[in-house]
Amino acid sequence: MDPKASGLTQRLADAGQSHLLQFWKELSPEEQADLTRDLQGMDFQEINGFFKNAMETSGSSKHEKMDARMGPVPREVLGSVTRDRECLKDWEVAGLDCISQSKVAALLLAGGQGTRLGVSYPKGMYDVGLPSHKTLFQIQAERILKLQQLAEQKHKIKCCIPWYIMTSGRTMESTKEFFSQRNYFGLDKNNIIFFTQGMLPAMDYSGKIILENKGKLSMAPDGNGGLYRALGNQGIINDMERRGIGYIHVYCVDNILVKVADPSFVGFCVQKGADCGAKVVEKTNPTEAVGVVCKVDGLYQVVEYSEITLATAEKRSDDGRLMFNAGNVANHFFSFSFLKDVVQKYEPKLQHHVAQKKIPFVNAQGQLIKPDKPNGIKMEKFVFDIFQFAKMFVVYEVLREDEFSPLKNADSQDAKDTPTTARHALMSLHHRWVLNAGGHFIDENGRRVPYIPSLKDGTDLPIKCEISPLVSYGGEGLEELVKGREFHPTLMIDENGVHELVKNGV
Ligand code: UTP
Repeated sequence: MDPKASGLTQRLADAGQSHLLQFWKELSPEEQADLTRDLQGMDFQEINGFFKNAMETSGSSKHEKMDARMGPVPREVLGSVTRDRECLKDWEVAGLDCISQSKVAALLLAGGQGTRLGVSYPKGMYDVGLPSHKTLFQIQAERILKLQQLAEQKHKIKCCIPWYIMTSGRTMESTKEFFSQRNYFGLDKNNIIFFTQGMLPAMDYSGKIILENKGKLSMAPDGNGGLYRALGNQGIINDMERRGIGYIHVYCVDNILVKVADPSFVGFCVQKGADCGAKVVEKTNPTEAVGVVCKVDGLYQVVEYSEITLATAEKRSDDGRLMFNAGNVANHFFSFSFLKDVVQKYEPKLQHHVAQKKIPFVNAQGQLIKPDKPNGIKMEKFVFDIFQFAKMFVVYEVLREDEFSPLKNADSQDAKDTPTTARHALMSLHHRWVLNAGGHFIDENGRRVPYIPSLKDGTDLPIKCEISPLVSYGGEGLEELVKGREFHPTLMIDENGVHELVKNGV
């Protein structure tokens, strides 16, 4: 349809975005139709408003360090798997109780683009090379299945943990197809609810939307905080209400160790009467580039490493630990009523963050340019932006080696957070589970492998050991399978039993 006749030309002119039609005459009828459809679905005044606010906020906050306004997480809102061991069982029981009443949902953030990993399919479909070759999605699905079983066995009632999966326009179809081809990994498909987050155009520094080619806008998902808007406009909050969900565990797709719907975390938050909670891992050293959960002017917030001075990052408490050590891992608890308030009342108050990026674009001559320095911005909200609105915010500290190993980058010599580190983290955890349950490993000569593996040639290779989540959710139930037994790696424990995949090096 002619853009003039439809009023599109005028709308673009009013918003200062007329350049988006500059190549109109060169486009094929199909390309024209696609571009028209994309443009008609957009609210340019709103996008311009987002741009203005985001630029103003990012400009003003750059110069001011947070240090003077920051305070650490007080002990009374902190639960810790190492410092509160005596409470862990109670919390787990409380969490399992909520799960058995089908009051707990898991919510997966899987709308990212996974640019650093560099694969063309959604990250959850990635196989990090475990002996089973399970993907991240499968591992998470099986943890949910197992947790449902544990709650059912304990309480002798049928229950379910609905699984809400946020994708983006780009990843929705392939994600759904993947689940359907694999028969939803044994879960009931009616309890897996896919929804899509919004997308926003990339803009240059003067607020003009960037064209990625002559007939297509450069679009990106609006950040994992796009969750809240999507929960409202896709009817997900209503779905949760219909199902009687009381508590929601929100987590990221890329953490291979994630304890989906972790009963101890849920139980801790529920017992504290929390409306929102963050699971954290201890920041390892002052300069580690991880955001920390802390108070700023009395309200909870995540403060990035770049926002504080080294002196503050190095501050220590009386116990010798870093004062600001609550490393945020995007793993959160919400009460349903708080989440609903966030969606309905607070989300519109959040500003977008500005990420400066190198964004490929077509110039006025129609040439495709790949810039070598940042030339524009993407606008994103973050899932933790809403901590400030919580009335009862709590923090739950867990061990990194047990619960956090994200997959961010492709394998390469010095890269962090790769398929290799993720695979090793999972196998090392499962190795420790076997040892804790009284099992032993032996090498090719039949000698017991020391509990603490030695460094060989500078490479710390874990014992190859994988335990299916269908057998154990968090290390429980293994004694009857391994106690007093010796195993050659590779050890696999799954629903079909205990197997040694490679014996005597064969
Ligand atoms: P990251 O910020 O690490 O982004 O996301 P990413 O997409 O995985 O990877 P890069 O930065 O492009 O390399 C942390 C979590 O937030 C989700 C991701 O899917 C991941 O689980 N996320 C991120 C969203 O759901 N939506 C977004 O818009 C961005």
